[in-house]
Amino acid sequence: MQQKITKAVIPAAGLGTRFLPATKAMPKEMMPIVDKPAIQYIIEEAVASGITDILIITGRGKRAIEDHFDRSYELEAELQKKGNADIIRELNRISSLASIHYIRQGKPLGLGHAILKAREHVGNEPFAVFLGDDLVKSEEPCMKKMMEIFSRTGFPVVAVSPVEKSEIPKYGIVKARQEGSELIIEDMVEKPAAEKAPSNLAILGRYILTPDIFGILEKTKPGANGEINLTDALRTLGRKKKIYGYRVEGKWMTVGDRMSYLKTVVEYALDRKDVGPEFLSYLRQRIK
Ligand code: UTP
Repeated sequence: MQQKITKAVIPAAGLGTRFLPATKAMPKEMMPIVDKPAIQYIIEEAVASGITDILIITGRGKRAIEDHFDRSYELEAELQKKGNADIIRELNRISSLASIHYIRQGKPLGLGHAILKAREHVGNEPFAVFLGDDLVKSEEPCMKKMMEIFSRTGFPVVAVSPVEKSEIPKYGIVKARQEGSELIIEDMVEKPAAEKAPSNLAILGRYILTPDIFGILEKTKPGANGEINLTDALRTLGRKKKIYGYRVEGKWMTVGDRMSYLKTVVEYALDRKDVGPEFLSYLRQRIK
């Protein structure tokens, strides 16, 4: 039996340049999906997977994330006066989801650099990583399934999902082989040309990492984009130990760019009992 994973790291310090001007003063991770910010879905997935301690890596302009997961006494008092008990309960639920901590990245020098900031907090334990702009819509939480692989094997796990050929150059793509029922990651390439890609399986924003990743990240040089890339560190880790893959069951959605965001909102809105039916009939009328 492997050590239980209770800590998660959520890097949310990126500049969100693909979503400007919306992200000039508002964190990309706070973009609303119907009426909940993206990062709340992520934290709910973490909690549903058994995570009790979350470290969010933030930066300039990301205060809204801290405020969202904090109590708001003035707002509660105002709602109390109006007799709005349901929403007060929901707000209290949000602020007591998990023990949430924050650390600033300083300069956004890449995902690898952001994760390295978690070293002291995580200590010598395996931990989960959730990227602040990737959502997985599934019956069972994606991270819970990844934890099952980790508890069987004790090795790092990365989540992967097939993408269209035209989408391959946007992602980290893995070379993988099947070993019985397990998917073993042999290598990974950052944003390859579709013709040169080793598969169509893209890495998405869910990882289980072992603490030896920190020593590797510390030595990882910035890549061609000038950033310390997690993929480069994972390749080094993969030369030392096995890395397992988890094929996502369900839908991987992102809020990182305009088109993906629009699709994500529609996807979640249509499935909501309160707004879904009316929204669907509006869409039907609109495209007539
Ligand atoms: P992205 O590359 O999608 O985010 O990183 P970005 O840099 O904000 O986006 P663009 O390309 O400028 O539009 C994935 C996740 O890693 C975090 C981001 O906040 C995002 O949640 N990240 C990225 C950091 O925390 N620090 C970094 O230096 C880079």
